[in-house]
Amino acid sequence: MIVVDGVSKSFDGGQSYAVRDVSLKVHDGETLVLLGSSGCGKSTTLKMINRLIEPTSGTIHVDDQDVTQQDPVLLRRTIGYVFQGIGLFPHYRVAQNIEVVPRLVGWSADKCKQRVREVMDLVGLPPDEFSDRFPDELSGGQQQRIGVARALAADPNYLLMDEPFGALDAITRDSLQQELKSLSKRLRKTVVFVTHDIFEALELADRIAVMHDGQLQQIDTPQKVLTEPATPFVRELFEKPARQLAAFQGVG
Ligand SMILES: Nc1ncnc2c1ncn2[C@@H]1O[C@H](COP(=O)(O)OP(=O)(O)OP(=O)(O)O)[C@@H](O)[C@H]1O
Ligand SMILES: [Mg+2]
Repeated sequence: MIVVDGVSKSFDGGQSYAVRDVSLKVHDGETLVLLGSSGCGKSTTLKMINRLIEPTSGTIHVDDQDVTQQDPVLLRRTIGYVFQGIGLFPHYRVAQNIEVVPRLVGWSADKCKQRVREVMDLVGLPPDEFSDRFPDELSGGQQQRIGVARALAADPNYLLMDEPFGALDAITRDSLQQELKSLSKRLRKTVVFVTHDIFEALELADRIAVMHDGQLQQIDTPQKVLTEPATPFVRELFEKPARQLAAFQGVG
C-alpha cells in the first residue's frame, strides 16, 4: 500500500505550492487515477512517491516504509515508472532500454535477456522483431509500449504511470488501455495512473483522485465522482464532457 500523508511541495521556498496538503492511500491491487488539468500537480505528486522529487513537508510510506529512509535503487526496484512523454534513452536499443532497472539491481545478463523477452511479449511486441531497434525506429505507440515494458521489467509491485498514452491516437490508446487493465489485474499490480483525460480516468480507475490547483478535491470510485461530486470543480469537470457528448448525440 502507498500512503501519502499531508504532503506539500513548494519549488520557490514557500511562496507558492505545486502540491498542497495531499493525503491519499493506494490500496494493494488498486488502480488509482490522478485526474486534473495541466499544472495542477499530478506529475509532482507522482514523482514524490519514487523520490524523483522530495516533499517540502509530509510523509510518504510504501509498504509501511518511509520512502525517504529507503535506498533509491531498491525503491526503483519496487516501483516501476513510466515517464510523461516517452522518456526512452535514444542511444539505447529497445532491449537495453528495458534492461536498465534489472541491471541496476544486479540481475545476471541471462536473466535480463529472458526478462526482456517476457515483458515484450506482455506488451505485444515480438522480441525477435523489435529488441535490436533504436527508439526512433519505432512508432509512437510502440515506443509507449516499450516504456510500459521497461517499467514492468524488474517485476515491481507498484507502477507509476505519468500520462503514458498521452500522444496516441484514440484507437491505439484504447487498445493499450485494455491491455493495461488486463495486465494490472492479472499481475496484481498497484497502479497510480496520471491523466488529464476524463474518459481515460473513467475507463481505467478503481478510484479517481481529482486534483485542482495542487489540492485534492475528491477521491472516490468513478461512479461516486460522477453522481456525488464533492466540490463545484468536480461537478463542472464531469458535466462538461457529458454535455458535449449529449450535444453530439443530439446532432446524430
Ligand atoms: N522542477 C520544478 N521547478 C519549479 N516549478 C515546477 C517544477 N516542476 C513543476 N513545477 C510547477 O509545479 C506545478 C505543478 O506541475 P506538475 O508537473 O506537477 O503538473 P501536472 O499536473 O503534471 O501538469 P501536466 O498535465 O501539464 O503534466 C506547475 O505550476 C509547474 O510549473
Ligand atoms: Mg505532468
